[in-house]
Amino acid sequence: MTAIDTSVTPPVVTLNDGVRIPQLGFGVWQVPDDQAQPAVETALRDGYRNIDTARIYGNEVGVGRAIAGSGIARDELFVTTKLWNDDQGYDSTLKAFDASLERLGLDYLDLYLIHWQQVDRGAYLDTFRAFQKLQADGRVRSIGVSNFTQPTLTTLIDTLGQVPSINQIEVHPYFQQRALHAFDVEHGIVTEAWSPLGSGAVLGDPAIGAIAAELGVSPAQVILRWDIQKGFVTIPKSVTPERIAQNFDIFGFELSEEQIARIDGLDRADGRTGPNPDTF
Ligand SMILES: NC(=O)c1ccc[n+]([C@@H]2O[C@H](COP(=O)([O-])OP(=O)(O)OC[C@H]3O[C@@H](n4cnc5c(N)ncnc54)[C@H](OP(=O)(O)O)[C@@H]3O)[C@@H](O)[C@H]2O)c1
Repeated sequence: MTAIDTSVTPPVVTLNDGVRIPQLGFGVWQVPDDQAQPAVETALRDGYRNIDTARIYGNEVGVGRAIAGSGIARDELFVTTKLWNDDQGYDSTLKAFDASLERLGLDYLDLYLIHWQQVDRGAYLDTFRAFQKLQADGRVRSIGVSNFTQPTLTTLIDTLGQVPSINQIEVHPYFQQRALHAFDVEHGIVTEAWSPLGSGAVLGDPAIGAIAAELGVSPAQVILRWDIQKGFVTIPKSVTPERIAQNFDIFGFELSEEQIARIDGLDRADGRTGPNPDTF
């Protein structure tokens, strides 16, 4: 059972290595580097402390500038970046980590993720071995994966004897990944929901709209509240200041069990919006 400290806002989740991550964070996929700085500055001003970027997003520099200028103590922030596919492998991972850290302007990272499992490439085990070295050396506090499926996670855990702290996967009301989430829970892996709003695709859903009207909040707030009550770490993205603030303002109301059940019912077989990890 994942430990979630709800005495703070946003709640904080304790990972299997003891590291604490704010349950609500801020994602910056598809935000150009020059827009990442003002977006992250806004998010930090609004209270977000968990920022999710990746080498492939091309905005680690902008994210780093926002962090540096914020005046927020480093140990109050939780910064995640991800290793891109062509950097997989032991030595190349160590090099890519140094480059990401330098772009971010940080001297340690909170969470490093393998962005995609890339099973055919055959390098995810060596990549995670390099992650273990980075963690042992104190350069990254927590190590995890993204877009890993159950068989790949099983091989990694059985071979390396370490359970990744997080599996960041596509999760939103149209694509709930219940079996993989249950596997994560069973193994002490926290599921982090990417594209929690389905990159916007779920926002117009009539059932979500009805619940939003019942509660007097927005559809985005309903979906993010569902994430929180389900126990996911969630990282919505926006470059719009009003929406950045709105997405953080989800702790003054609750979904009832009946409302949660209605959202649970929106799961569908063709709900995926991003690539399939088995073929990407
Ligand atoms: N590990 C992976 O492979 C992976 C893959 C995809 C995403 N991610 C992570 O997950 C994060 C979130 O996913 P995402 O960027 O795909 O999208 P998302 O958070 O699901 O949705 C973002 C979209 O919704 C809009 N939006 C945000 N808040 C809104 C609100 N309150 N009302 C109306 N519209 C709103 C945004 O518009 P504006 O920005 O124009 O306001 C944007 O178009 C990414 O930024 C990234 O950090 C990871």
